[in-house]
Amino acid sequence: MGENIIPLVDHRYAASVPAVPEVPAPATGLLSDRLGRPLRDLRISVTDRCNFRCSYCMPKEVFDKDYKFLPQASLLSFEEITRAARLFVAHGVQKLRLTGGEPLLRKHIEVLVGMLSTLRTPQGEPLDITLTTNGSLLERKAQALKAAGLARVTVSLDALDDGIFRRMNDVDFPVADVLRGIEAAQRAGLAPIKINMVVKRGTNDHEIVPLARHVRERFGPGVILRFIEYMDVGSTNGWRMDEVLPSAEVVARLGAAFPLEPMDPNDAGETAERWRYRDGGGEIGVISSVTQAFCSDCNRARLSTEGKIFLCLFASRGHDLRALLRGTGPQGAPYSDEEIAGALGLIWRDRDDRYSELRSREMAPVASGERRVEMHYIGG
Ligand code: GTP
Ligand code: 5AD
Ligand code: SF4
Ligand code: SF4
Repeated sequence: MGENIIPLVDHRYAASVPAVPEVPAPATGLLSDRLGRPLRDLRISVTDRCNFRCSYCMPKEVFDKDYKFLPQASLLSFEEITRAARLFVAHGVQKLRLTGGEPLLRKHIEVLVGMLSTLRTPQGEPLDITLTTNGSLLERKAQALKAAGLARVTVSLDALDDGIFRRMNDVDFPVADVLRGIEAAQRAGLAPIKINMVVKRGTNDHEIVPLARHVRERFGPGVILRFIEYMDVGSTNGWRMDEVLPSAEVVARLGAAFPLEPMDPNDAGETAERWRYRDGGGEIGVISSVTQAFCSDCNRARLSTEGKIFLCLFASRGHDLRALLRGTGPQGAPYSDEEIAGALGLIWRDRDDRYSELRSREMAPVASGERRVEMHYIGG
């Protein structure tokens, strides 16, 4: 097993090397975990770096000039990511989301998009390929991403007010550039565009209505604004419950300015509860992982930049897929697709994570001493 020993620098989060079944069962696309949940959504983090320092994600005190980001050699290559995605797709994944850090900082990201866009589900359907970005480089990259096969994009945007926005990204980045990035994405035909606003009570909650108004007026009904409850993810953001603004309050405040009505969900397992403006002004969403956990339908797996699989946003232990992608089996031969797919099947079948649900019932697992993953490392 000598070749599976990973250099110390990668040991930022604990990970086990997945077991490879001796006789791998073929992927059927019908996997289900211990709580009966299928696998549908793979979120791929392509870099742990970001050019913003949002205090709830990469606070400057921690992510300073001495912080050791992952070295180039430990990142999965585009070929490795595409191979992993193909094996996940064989098991039922239909949606791929590229995240970071900031995914547009990864060099030639559009090449990866192009490679992923060639994948097909076992039924021959193309995948829903999307990307979560802070929007800072979107104006420059929207066209190339669309041309490479990206279907849509989600932009994080926490305030319309320039002063608040600059303070929240903590690198003095102007909001106007992100808004222009959204326009560029619209022009390029990336659709639907979603805007995600993390709401922190006392920091940006008074921006809910102004941002909603601006999105309606400037971008029209094709852009979906979603409000996210501030979560206790990771361990560096100093999360406090009194900074969470419950989604019910978001809906009440927004509904007072622009009357709303509920909409049916698109799919089981969706994160957002959907609402629309009664006047036809478009759709909004609220994501309530603190006040109304949605673990019971959670069909999401996450792949980190250096190839660890995490089965929950709140996990502290991953599964080291890269060890299989780069390693060799007992006979000294590289693992085959069938063997790796077999290992993925075992991992998903054994999954019982449901952190948010347990936390809301005050049953969250006691910290094991292992560090929980951070958002900049695993994406949203
Ligand atoms: P769409 O397919 O566009 O609807 O995307 P999505 O809502 O599935 O994904 P997105 O990355 O836009 O998620 C928005 C936010 O919801 C993230 O930034 C997280 O804050 C939160 N979120 C997403 N997935 C999960 C999850 O599995 N668990 C929890 N607790 N929160 C999640
Ligand atoms: N709570 C909720 N959402 C978060 N994000 C990052 N940290 C948190 C948190 N603590 C979201 C960002 C972005 C995505 C990458 O994750 O807003 O949309
Ligand atoms: Fe902010 Fe997103 Fe960067 Fe985190 S990854 S610091 S949330 S822009
Ligand atoms: Fe899924 Fe974990 Fe989020 Fe629950 S807390 S919805 S199990 S990622």
